[in-house]
Amino acid sequence: MKGLPFFIFFASLLPFLVLRLSTATDTISASQSINGSNTLVSSGQSFELGLFQVGNSKAWYLGIWFKNLPHIVVWVANRENPLPDSHGALTLTKNGTMALFDQMNNTIWSTMSSQIAENPVAQLLETGNLVVRDKAATDSESYVWQSFDFPSDTSLPKMKIGWNFRTGLNRFLTSWKNASDPSPGEYTYGIDPLGLPQLVVAKGTEKLYRTGPWNGLRFTGFPSSSNELIVKPIFVYDTNELYYMYMATDIMTGVKLTESGLAQRVVLNRGSTEWSVMYTLQNDRCDNYRECGANGFCKISNSPPCECLQGYVPKSQNEWEVLNWTSGCIRETSLNCQKDDGFLKVPNVKLPDLLDFQLNMSMSVKQCEADCLKNCSCVAYTNSDVRNGGSGCLMWFGDLIDMRESIEEANPELIYIRMPSSELGNSTQKDKRVVLISVISAVSVLLFLGFTCFLSLIIQKKRRKKSGSTSPKDLELPLFDFEEIATATNNFSFRNKLGEGGFGPVYKGSLRQDELIAVKRLSKDSGQGIEEFKNEVTMIANLQHWNLVKLLGCCIEGEERMLIYEYLPNKSLDCFIFDQNQKMLLNWQKRYDIIMGIARGLLYLHQDSRVRIIHRDLKSNNILLDHELNPKISDFGIARIFERNQTEAKTKRVIGTYGYMSPEYAIDGKFSVKSDVFSFGVLLLEIISGRKNRGFHHADHNHSLLGHAWLLWNKNKGLEVVDQCLEYSYVEFEVLRCIQVGLLCVQKLPKDRPVMSSVFLMLSNEAAILPQPKEPGFFTERSSMDFEDTLAGKGRSQTGSTSTLTTVEAR
Ligand SMILES: *[C@@H]1O[C@H](CO)[C@@H](O)[C@H](O)[C@H]1NC(C)=O
Ligand SMILES: *[C@@H]1O[C@H](CO)[C@@H](O)[C@H](O)[C@H]1NC(C)=O
Ligand SMILES: *[C@@H]1O[C@H](CO)[C@@H](O)[C@H](O)[C@H]1NC(C)=O
Ligand SMILES: *[C@@H]1O[C@H](CO)[C@@H](O)[C@H](O)[C@H]1NC(C)=O
Ligand SMILES: *[C@@H]1O[C@H](CO)[C@@H](O)[C@H](O)[C@H]1NC(C)=O
Ligand SMILES: *[C@@H]1O[C@H](CO)[C@@H](O)[C@H](O)[C@H]1NC(C)=O
Ligand SMILES: *[C@@H]1O[C@H](CO)[C@@H](O)[C@H](O)[C@H]1NC(C)=O
Repeated sequence: MKGLPFFIFFASLLPFLVLRLSTATDTISASQSINGSNTLVSSGQSFELGLFQVGNSKAWYLGIWFKNLPHIVVWVANRENPLPDSHGALTLTKNGTMALFDQMNNTIWSTMSSQIAENPVAQLLETGNLVVRDKAATDSESYVWQSFDFPSDTSLPKMKIGWNFRTGLNRFLTSWKNASDPSPGEYTYGIDPLGLPQLVVAKGTEKLYRTGPWNGLRFTGFPSSSNELIVKPIFVYDTNELYYMYMATDIMTGVKLTESGLAQRVVLNRGSTEWSVMYTLQNDRCDNYRECGANGFCKISNSPPCECLQGYVPKSQNEWEVLNWTSGCIRETSLNCQKDDGFLKVPNVKLPDLLDFQLNMSMSVKQCEADCLKNCSCVAYTNSDVRNGGSGCLMWFGDLIDMRESIEEANPELIYIRMPSSELGNSTQKDKRVVLISVISAVSVLLFLGFTCFLSLIIQKKRRKKSGSTSPKDLELPLFDFEEIATATNNFSFRNKLGEGGFGPVYKGSLRQDELIAVKRLSKDSGQGIEEFKNEVTMIANLQHWNLVKLLGCCIEGEERMLIYEYLPNKSLDCFIFDQNQKMLLNWQKRYDIIMGIARGLLYLHQDSRVRIIHRDLKSNNILLDHELNPKISDFGIARIFERNQTEAKTKRVIGTYGYMSPEYAIDGKFSVKSDVFSFGVLLLEIISGRKNRGFHHADHNHSLLGHAWLLWNKNKGLEVVDQCLEYSYVEFEVLRCIQVGLLCVQKLPKDRPVMSSVFLMLSNEAAILPQPKEPGFFTERSSMDFEDTLAGKGRSQTGSTSTLTTVEAR
């Protein structure tokens, strides 16, 4: 059965015919050659160099491809001058020149190098770099020649894109003409070094896309944080060199400039035979060069996206109205070039293109402003280097081209745009109003705070009396100002929205230069009233654990209530384990670490913190991941505090998420540490299987994921539960132990479930003897309707979708 798909697979590769009769090593010495019947293979078997043919054309090329994937070509030598047939040979001469000859001994292609190697060898490195070096030398500085200096359409990890100022070498990507023609197409992707460097995608000499200029740390507007998880970007800019490069660990990745001019980050997933696109640099229409014309400003959150900069109006109102922004905007009031001109600060921008500009790296920002005022045609300035609080001076003259609202994570970029005093006058008045409002609100907040402090003092006193114990010293929680949070989140803009939590939207914001925060803005009509808010604030403020999300403060103003957390860049666990591409990033070791982290966090909540806390809504959406993928338990909106000796409580208002609720909680409203343990078990099995418990379907039965896992476990086929993409990375006994613990956690009766300390012990201790699990909770085959849906029918769904948070009245 397996033969057929395989045959089709190989048949589809037939046009990419490669003859390999004997496989060479990774090195050839002088006078040896690579021809139609042998290839070079890198030492780790990742790359292969040889002659190949593309599509239906008769042309042959010398190139490098992923070993066993001859259709993923990463480099082509003789792009412009193909061989007419497979009779060609790549030869290394005695002085270290490599040349490709055809059958008639004509030189088809050759390396040009001013350096000579004494005893040359050509080697295909494991990075995919073909180098010529002296036999004795291995240092990259001493390569006589390397293919990484002459990129085709793909850049690979450790390959520099950019300039070597000493030699004048400029490395950039050039697209293929089309998918079956590797000759250089019209598109290029490289660094424009003029003034402050920018990364530019161009079609011939016409710019199609640019990042903003280099700001001392990186290119502004370049999507850095979105991919830092798998690749580490490196930028170098000094007097000798200017380049962009990236490193990657245990993942095959590249940047490819497609035949249609898109610059894409691509990855080769394990088991896949094609590149998958992770993201495209040209992400939205605001990335199109000059989308909004001169002095226009592109805001992708607006529809339509183009507007004029403040103080400017459309040059042609008619065109603008039919969404033709080509001719851009002109000043509403022309500058009178008097001393009373001023500057409007525009934050969060991709800086305009450097067409007519002046750069002085040693000038201070103050001086920059003064100098710009002096010259009537200077329209804007900013500091050219954001490091050390900002320095240097970049001034623009004439029109401002290709500005957009930045979509970067933490963007310190801002620009000062020149305005006549009349324009600025208005905004100072506005400012005054804002100041007045802030003062009033600050006073009311203070009053309110005073009142809350007073209240909490009374409550604390009462509590002390009641419990007789020393109550935990309530942490002083920083209070944030509403304006500050509004600014940090771009006025709660849609762009900054991270998602919708149980009680309202969550926004991303940046406080100062790089302090990122997540702001949970409680919706006014949410179920979470002041009680729940206080509950969450006091509870989390007093919790300090590596595996719990950190609360930085809160903000109360009028009806508004907000919680400010540390920002975790990798969103939540469900975005990884249930996503076909993202799940590849979590190998078994990482998943195991995540399981242990959650177990540690929960153990702390149940047992090791000063109060006993039942989370009640543990689920994959509530596990956030930091930049190193460390798990952090979040969302304590419905958590409950237990007395030290209390073991169980009952509620009429069952809140939680189907698929994670234990039977006794869902049916009778009883919750305890054991109901959290049930949720943990579900989570554990979801992490191992990469499948959701809720909505699980299997061809052979109607059980949930828990039932499925148990059925397989009973047949000694536990490993079949494991996510297929873990096939190569898992450790059998660890996985089996985790499945067993998971099944023990989801036992039907609370008394059969272990407490978290035992769970932790069982997971971490290889020698621990584990009981055999019995059938799990909810082990009944569902008929046409989900058990969960039956319950949901009675309840009120607050957000819809699978991450439902539902309230039902318990029986
Ligand atoms: C290819 O090169 C190998 C080794 O350099 C040589 O033995 C072989 O005869 C060559 N084959 C052809 C077809 O030129
Ligand atoms: C190396 O040898 C080739 C031919 O054998 C010659 O064309 C080339 O100029 C030589 N290179 C140098 C740097 O001498
Ligand atoms: C090509 O060069 C080789 C070695 O220099 C020689 O043996 C062969 O006869 C030449 N072939 C032709 C067609 O000139
Ligand atoms: C690719 O380009 C070549 C020449 O540039 C042309 O002959 C060929 O038809 C093109 N192929 C496709 C699939 O567009
Ligand atoms: C937009 O306006 C310009 C003139 O400013 C004109 O040349 C162009 O054709 C217009 N584009 C469309 C799509 O109408
Ligand atoms: C840069 O600014 C400094 C300080 O104002 C000045 O001394 C220097 O001449 C300027 N350099 C250039 C190239 O204009
Ligand atoms: C203003 O700047 C422009 C562009 O650098 C320059 O050409 C012009 O001479 C300057 N004008 C004055 C008065 O300095």
